[in-house]
Amino acid sequence: MNRRKFLAAAAGTATVAGLATGFLRSHGPRSSAPVARGLPPLPPDPAFPNALLLPGADGLLGIIDAGGSLAIVAKPIVHALLPGKPTRMLAFETDTQGRLFHNPVLRVRTGTRMRVSFLNALEEPSIIHWHGLKVDSNNDGHPHYAVPGGAVYDYQFTVPNRAAMYWYHPHPHHRTGAQVYLGLAGCFLVEDDEELALQRALDLALGATDVPLVIQDRRFDPDGRLVFADGASERFLGRYGTEVLVNFTPRPYFDVTSRVYRFRILNGSNARLYRLAFRHGDALVDFTLIGTDGGLLDRPRAIREAFLAPGERIDVLLDLRAASRGDAVTLTSLAFDPMHPERPHAGGGQDAHDALPDGAEIELMRIRVEQKTLYDRAVPHALSRIEPAAASPYSPRLIVLDQAQGRWRINGLTYDVAATPIAVKRDSVEAWDFRNVRPTMPHPMHIHGFQFRVVSRTGSPEQQRRLAVDSSGLAATDLGWKDTVLVWPGETVRIVTDFSHPFLGDQVYMIHCHNLDHEDGGMMLNLRVAA
Ligand code: C2O
Ligand code: CU
Ligand code: CU
Repeated sequence: MNRRKFLAAAAGTATVAGLATGFLRSHGPRSSAPVARGLPPLPPDPAFPNALLLPGADGLLGIIDAGGSLAIVAKPIVHALLPGKPTRMLAFETDTQGRLFHNPVLRVRTGTRMRVSFLNALEEPSIIHWHGLKVDSNNDGHPHYAVPGGAVYDYQFTVPNRAAMYWYHPHPHHRTGAQVYLGLAGCFLVEDDEELALQRALDLALGATDVPLVIQDRRFDPDGRLVFADGASERFLGRYGTEVLVNFTPRPYFDVTSRVYRFRILNGSNARLYRLAFRHGDALVDFTLIGTDGGLLDRPRAIREAFLAPGERIDVLLDLRAASRGDAVTLTSLAFDPMHPERPHAGGGQDAHDALPDGAEIELMRIRVEQKTLYDRAVPHALSRIEPAAASPYSPRLIVLDQAQGRWRINGLTYDVAATPIAVKRDSVEAWDFRNVRPTMPHPMHIHGFQFRVVSRTGSPEQQRRLAVDSSGLAATDLGWKDTVLVWPGETVRIVTDFSHPFLGDQVYMIHCHNLDHEDGGMMLNLRVAA
């Protein structure tokens, strides 16, 4: 049953720095070995027995070029999440051009006009939210617009966003966590000229060398059924699974050639944070951060690890040019301090040996070099333009995150669909201080409808502070456009948001914690952008 290595505390700060010799250095300069062809496949790896599910032409995670009209149905399907154990899960289904898709990767150009007819075929209310897209509140999937089972909601919007991997998921109040957990979530790729130039420069192909990775932890019963536990501990801390799936694949391997790969990584988990790194033996491999939630950075940055909280995305390059056939790199979540008490093992719950504690080291996916290839592309020095965050003329608005009587709150409040406790003026630029007041746990804070910039982190715990790249305490992953930002216990994170938009009238969006179980518990407020 002990399928994963638990190297709790083995990857503390000193250890990581000491071991981080890097993949390239340990292998010397780029090999000039000839391209090998027709080699036998690599032998199976018992620790990673399942081929990673890649976005393809149809089926689960199939790619749809989504201009025009689309009919999407949220419904139960049967799929073997664990091999050989078909189970009921939920999926967004669409049937287009004679092909059937589940949770399709939707791909559009900036400026595309979308018409989506959403049929809720669940037995409870639902609605689709387009996470990170700048759309008017009628199209945002606010819980206020949730439709009952059997009903349809029609969306019509233009995608104004810059290129990035956004995502879509349900957003009915109290049930977002359950519906996402049971399977409803998909990637939404926006492309523009800059993005297409990068794909050409690096010779990237979606689903082959440019791979979205959706990371989600789940609990299964012995028959392979998804378990959505509903105890007090799950409602307070969030749902933590015992098996981490990447693209709906448990313990996946991905066989590659010796070139540069792009991974666009979404943390689609309900509650679990990951401290992502690539391991080669005992060493950590440097990798390149090229983008965040809202798209490309100004330039690539070499990093060795990145925290990724629920709702957040990072866009990274992994350079395998120096690797030889048989080399393997493991996408790993390194051990970290989860900064909250471990959940109690109340009687009748899961077995202690079956647990995957928050903050434990987890090997997520093995990347194996199957053959050498010639690859002569170089990562561009400049990726995009990122203007410095606009200055706000107002003093920062304080947004306090705390809890009372076991409920997480924002500014002392829990969600009331009829109240709009935060009101901003259209076209205003506001600085907000998210302050996470102890005793507490990490909260990834998300704003609908707008991308923002992170301008400072203060009071950060050591595991965050050591990642700072400037005197404001920002990590590399804070340097681009963001729609979700992790706020650690004791930390104050200042963001700046420009609330200008092109829509008519008042718009009602929301801010919430993207720990979906916190969100469902009411750690969410309406945000009015007054015309
Ligand atoms: Cu992805 Cu309101 O959230
Ligand atoms: Cu959102
Ligand atoms: Cu939270």
